[in-house]
Amino acid sequence: MADFHSELKPLPAPSERGDGCKVYIETYGCQMNVYDTQAIGGLLERDGFVSARDFFEADVVLLNTCSVRELAEHKIISRVGEIRRQRRNADLPAVTIGICGCMAERLGPELRKGANRVDLVVGVDSYDKLPGMLLELETRNGTRRHRVATGHRSDAHYVAPPESYPVNNSHLVTIHKGCDYKCTYCIVPYTRGPQSEKSPDDIMAEIRMLVDAGGEEVTLLGQNVTAYNWRGGLDFAALLEQVATIEGLRRIRFLTGHPRDMHPHTMDAIGALEKVCPWLHLPIQAGSNRILKRMKRLYKREEYLQMVRYARRVIPDVTFSTDIIVGFPGETEEDFQATLEVIREVKYDQIFSFKYSERPGVPAAKLADDVPLEVKKRRLAEVIALQEEIWSGMARELVGKTFRGIVEGPARHQDGFWRVRTANNRKFVVDGSDHAPWILRGIIFLVLLVGLVYFFVANAGQVVDINFFGKQFLEVSIYWVVVVCFAIGFAASFLLAAMREFRFRRTISGLKKTLAAKDREIHDLRTMPLRKDEPGRGKSGDDKPLEGKAEGGA
Ligand code: 5AD
Ligand code: SF4
Repeated sequence: MADFHSELKPLPAPSERGDGCKVYIETYGCQMNVYDTQAIGGLLERDGFVSARDFFEADVVLLNTCSVRELAEHKIISRVGEIRRQRRNADLPAVTIGICGCMAERLGPELRKGANRVDLVVGVDSYDKLPGMLLELETRNGTRRHRVATGHRSDAHYVAPPESYPVNNSHLVTIHKGCDYKCTYCIVPYTRGPQSEKSPDDIMAEIRMLVDAGGEEVTLLGQNVTAYNWRGGLDFAALLEQVATIEGLRRIRFLTGHPRDMHPHTMDAIGALEKVCPWLHLPIQAGSNRILKRMKRLYKREEYLQMVRYARRVIPDVTFSTDIIVGFPGETEEDFQATLEVIREVKYDQIFSFKYSERPGVPAAKLADDVPLEVKKRRLAEVIALQEEIWSGMARELVGKTFRGIVEGPARHQDGFWRVRTANNRKFVVDGSDHAPWILRGIIFLVLLVGLVYFFVANAGQVVDINFFGKQFLEVSIYWVVVVCFAIGFAASFLLAAMREFRFRRTISGLKKTLAAKDREIHDLRTMPLRKDEPGRGKSGDDKPLEGKAEGGA
């Protein structure tokens, strides 16, 4: 493992204390958790622990968790029971299970009680204690102090090593943690604590290391990156300018921005810096000013829309995505229609939509959760359906256009195809064998051309006898031969182009089917309990272990 921690801040020397103990980590929730999981892996590896491929071969299982919605928490608790049961069925010994992340922070020692109690509870700012806690558990069976570590520290910034990264050449870098806003529905300010910045020097050092390790793209992460402010001197726009100077780095993305902090000068910087991707994930949450006020979002719908218009003016080819909550306390049909209006007006590329879920202790918990579940479900379905309709119209407009993208890896469901992402975060599946007809076409042209030139030079000005089985078949001028040969060449080339078009259309219709199936899956995910043994996750967020993508905060 690259020893770059030392450049950022001194850490204890690597040791073999973990003695090859195998750890398996499952990640739930947002990309902050994806990043934290990498950081935890790095910390453990440094102490001689190794990573397990699955929970069957693990000595320790860690669940890196999310508290944003209630369902996600329930699923984690049942996952603990599920892991224990599956191991028992496989005749494996009892395994140490730990809960990390937001749930650990929110529930702390509570997680050590009940039928599905866990052995370890480690909050978001205590990951550096994890190796020591695991060792204590092994050697002395651990006291309470060695089993629960929670609480916030402003200095606890972690670094995820570039190795074993889930997305090949695209890396995440957390630039700050926590959140100073108090949106009334949100648990994050309580689980992740107040906003605290990683220093620009540390951020630059970390990105340089990722680039040295082959990374081309970085996503600057935080609950509210647009509010980044290093000691009142360097804001997010200035940070982007600094990061853009890193040689070898091709693309910079960021997640998530709070609309209130998306200042015109930040958008100017995004538009002016070639490396910064023209994609803004700006959660609107609701389209009605009355609900926005109740959510304490600190902007009005008109201000949000004005910001979108400004972004469109100064950021070429900008695309938008957003988060939406339906069924917030007191949301009337009229309020909900206002949300749909915003969706129609902005035309997002992607929407992450959620049913409101009451979280204990947050200000909205004092309001009656008065929108019935059936209504929430129906509104959610309406948001999804509207978005599908808008996106399919937008997708049609893209047909025939050419985009530059970075290949992210092989496509999940089609052999020979590649996943490609454009700067404005549009994902395409590209036929890896696409070039074959063109090569064939080129060869045909070349053969024809060589043949024709030879024929022409050898027979210039002559009449050509075309014999067939010794009999004269045709007597034509050499010029006609040239014309006919070219006609054949063109016909062959058009035939190949038609074949290519046919293949393209077949691929598109295959993709449409895959997407429709995916949408159904996403809808099921939002409304149904988690199915077992299914990897990946839907757009709605935090229900299942992640494979890489998730929504952010703000
Ligand atoms: N209920 C439903 N959705 C929520 N989110 C945050 N808190 C809640 C909640 N209590 C959503 C918001 C946020 C995203 C990360 O999760 O849309 O932007
Ligand atoms: Fe902070 Fe975002 Fe939660 Fe609001 S929704 S409190 S901005 S993390």
